[in-house]
Amino acid sequence: MASAYPNSLYLILLCLLPVSVLSQTNKNITSGSSLTAVPNDNSSWTSPSGEFAFGFQQIETGGFLLAIWFDKIPEQTIVWSANGGNLVQQGSKVQLTTEGQFVLIDPKGQEVWMANLAGTGTVSYAAMLDTGNFVLASQDSTNLWESFDHPTDTILPTQTLNIGSSLVARYSEMNYSSGRFLMQLQSNGNLVLSTVHFPLLALNTDYWSTNTNGSGVQVLFDLSGSIYLKAKDESILSTITSIGASSSNFYQRAILEYDGVFRQYVYPKNDSVADGRPMAWSSQAHVPDNICMNITTQNTGSGACGFNSYCHLGNDQRPICTCPPGYSPLEPDNEMMGCKQAFVPQECDGGQVVDLFDLRELSSVNWWGGDYEYFKPVSEDWCRQRCLADCFCAVAIYNTASECWMKKIPLSNGVQNNVDVGTKALIKIRKDNSTTSIANSLKKQKSTLNLILTILFSSSAFLNLILSIATFWVVFRKRRITQPSGEIQGVGLRSLTYNELEGATNNFKEELGKGACSTVYKGILAIGNNNLIAVKRLDKMVTDSEQEFQAEISAIGKTNHKNLVQLLGFCNEGQHRLLVYEYMSNGSLASYLFGNSRPSWYRRTEIAFGTARGLAYLHEESTNQIIHCDIKPQNILLDDSLTARISDFGLAKLLKTDQTRTLTAIRGTKGYVAPEWFKSKPVTVKVDVYSFGILLLELICCRKSFDQDAKDENQMILADWAYDCYEEGRMYMLVQEDEEAIQDIEKVEKFVMIAIWCIQDDPLLRPTMKRVSQMLEGAIEVALPPKSPN
Ligand SMILES: *[C@@H]1O[C@H](CO)[C@@H](O)[C@H](O)[C@H]1NC(C)=O
Ligand SMILES: *[C@@H]1O[C@H](CO)[C@@H](O)[C@H](O)[C@H]1NC(C)=O
Ligand SMILES: *[C@@H]1O[C@H](CO)[C@@H](O)[C@H](O)[C@H]1NC(C)=O
Ligand SMILES: *[C@@H]1O[C@H](CO)[C@@H](O)[C@H](O)[C@H]1NC(C)=O
Ligand SMILES: *[C@@H]1O[C@H](CO)[C@@H](O)[C@H](O)[C@H]1NC(C)=O
Ligand SMILES: *[C@@H]1O[C@H](CO)[C@@H](O)[C@H](O)[C@H]1NC(C)=O
Ligand SMILES: *[C@@H]1O[C@H](CO)[C@@H](O)[C@H](O)[C@H]1NC(C)=O
Repeated sequence: MASAYPNSLYLILLCLLPVSVLSQTNKNITSGSSLTAVPNDNSSWTSPSGEFAFGFQQIETGGFLLAIWFDKIPEQTIVWSANGGNLVQQGSKVQLTTEGQFVLIDPKGQEVWMANLAGTGTVSYAAMLDTGNFVLASQDSTNLWESFDHPTDTILPTQTLNIGSSLVARYSEMNYSSGRFLMQLQSNGNLVLSTVHFPLLALNTDYWSTNTNGSGVQVLFDLSGSIYLKAKDESILSTITSIGASSSNFYQRAILEYDGVFRQYVYPKNDSVADGRPMAWSSQAHVPDNICMNITTQNTGSGACGFNSYCHLGNDQRPICTCPPGYSPLEPDNEMMGCKQAFVPQECDGGQVVDLFDLRELSSVNWWGGDYEYFKPVSEDWCRQRCLADCFCAVAIYNTASECWMKKIPLSNGVQNNVDVGTKALIKIRKDNSTTSIANSLKKQKSTLNLILTILFSSSAFLNLILSIATFWVVFRKRRITQPSGEIQGVGLRSLTYNELEGATNNFKEELGKGACSTVYKGILAIGNNNLIAVKRLDKMVTDSEQEFQAEISAIGKTNHKNLVQLLGFCNEGQHRLLVYEYMSNGSLASYLFGNSRPSWYRRTEIAFGTARGLAYLHEESTNQIIHCDIKPQNILLDDSLTARISDFGLAKLLKTDQTRTLTAIRGTKGYVAPEWFKSKPVTVKVDVYSFGILLLELICCRKSFDQDAKDENQMILADWAYDCYEEGRMYMLVQEDEEAIQDIEKVEKFVMIAIWCIQDDPLLRPTMKRVSQMLEGAIEVALPPKSPN
């Protein structure tokens, strides 16, 4: 009996196998076959090698896309989609009808999309080929329709683009419908990249071209990783991108991405051929080099970034769109679609006082569109006053040649250009959003005082110790008397006198908190958005020299991101060193998260996104890389709209914490501190990734990383408990009493896995914050983290 059971099971398996094999790896898809969009159902039509598949892909934004994708890699990589990239609902069906049509129908039976056979015949069978081409063929095996002839944003090796063909960028990373950029082989033989008059596909401004008038006839992607433009006689006119990677060792694709850049990617088929490349898609070549600098015309349209936004390249050479100070993105969390003024603009009724507005400076930024007036030669002060007094002026541009331009809304084709350092943009913003908002903040201020106490000052025991050591170290150094300093050049930071700050804080009357090395006071000063400020007074001079202080302050002042607490000004006068910050009305994440009521799961995910973006910016996008070194809920503050804002960044270097890190055999428990602090290994940005991982777990579970009163001893250390739950496949345990989170368990599990990647002991295994941010937002898949921490 004991042996009969496995036998019968084997038989059942044998009976089942042929059916599923047929549906998975069929070569010819016959008339009457269909696929239905069902969640977590992986049925698809795969190519004989299994590398490509055709079917429905579930998209995170909700819905299904009829698509072709790379099927042997974990990342969701769609290379073609039907129906203009528009999603369909669960229950939709794609079918090769007995009448020989290939149609997509919605759950109500309405036809949504159909392969356009242009009357060439009826389809007898379909096939997913190993090249990634999906074909519909007639009885006599002639191809009536090929996905290769109807590309979306991607081309694959062996695919060609002929005269008139184009690739259209998708709208955003996760929205596959058509976006703002197009690549076209034009009838004049030129291959061009162009912006379009969105939402139409009509061409607007070319920003790259092969300049092959009258000669180009075909673009070819060959098997050795080169993309050429060829002439009629087959000669090569122009190499568009070339990376020399064989298609037998690498998966390859080239895509016009949603940021307007055409990039060629490879993915090693296995470790042995990777040759040092990561086991992931990596971009190996792209055109144009710098899209920000290539779209600088006065043409209509919004350029590389949307209206009022400006474009600059990040460390990875990808364009980044940023809203100027006082402006916010039109689409939340998508700065590529432009920005709007986040304040009531100046009215032109003549009755308004000029001092309601102020100018914020952005160095090396210019908008190429939006000019309406030009003055030369004038002084910067004249240019500033002129803009403040002119209700049409939204931005003034001033340069070292004493030129001054007035620009109006909408601003277009904004660029931050590191070559043209003499140019600065003066952005006009309302000083105090409105009088009522000030009154409200003042009313709120008593009740939030307790919250604030914990804000700028709640240093962990760890940082306190470091600060004391730093102070100790400094006390033995000769004090210097410094002169009152001037502006810090090129940074929109106000240099304030000690007297001014004494006045603003009413002689340092209201103390908000005290740390090992500094004290924070509340103040009122016409400098921030709502006039309320937090003034941090460094008790001891902890920096080495005047220049060093200036340099660090300047580095902190250059950062500008919606997820950072903005440094507004400073005072450096004699022994007095003070930093002036925006005042955050909603206190710290620590009190929000560990307070009496549990914040909603949605809020917590938003805070995770915001913190990750802020850190990615500090690590990768700010002019000087900044390692925070003390990420924890006490250092994440929440503004009026509960957006996460990282505080105290840049202080690690200013206070020289890194010099003392070898003295820190402090914690037996897993706190926020990465293990390499305790070893003599170099401290890199990955220490922040570690701390973020712990913070993310706290956000998921709404509890502290260390909880002495935990129900169970195993649950005392959150990181260990999360690991246990992950290893046992019971991640829901972490959010057991949280109905909302349970409803969204897939995201909870994803977040836990991301957190586990972040707290790997080996810093090299931890992802970068940029990658963390992309994983959180669903732009890239999350691989399974290693099971055991060590
Ligand atoms: C697919 O069908 C066509 C026409 O019936 C036939 O010629 C071809 O050999 C079939 N291919 C495969 C791989 O079955
Ligand atoms: C589909 O794939 C996912 C992950 O790739 C897997 O977890 C799931 O079990 C699969 N479902 C089926 C029905 O094969
Ligand atoms: C994608 O973007 C388009 C254009 O803005 C919009 O109409 C559509 O609703 C978006 N689709 C999804 C799934 O968000
Ligand atoms: C290509 O044609 C355009 C007009 O269609 C013309 O302006 C341009 O000078 C030509 N370029 C070359 C290289 O012939
Ligand atoms: C790796 O891939 C190459 C090319 O596909 C193949 O020739 C080789 O056998 C593979 N090696 C391993 C270890 O799978
Ligand atoms: C855009 O940049 C490329 C370099 O990537 C340059 O060769 C080309 O001339 C530029 N095109 C335009 C239209 O400015
Ligand atoms: C300023 O106030 C307006 C309405 O009075 C509001 O819509 C806007 O969001 C506020 N902006 C900021 C930056 O607080």
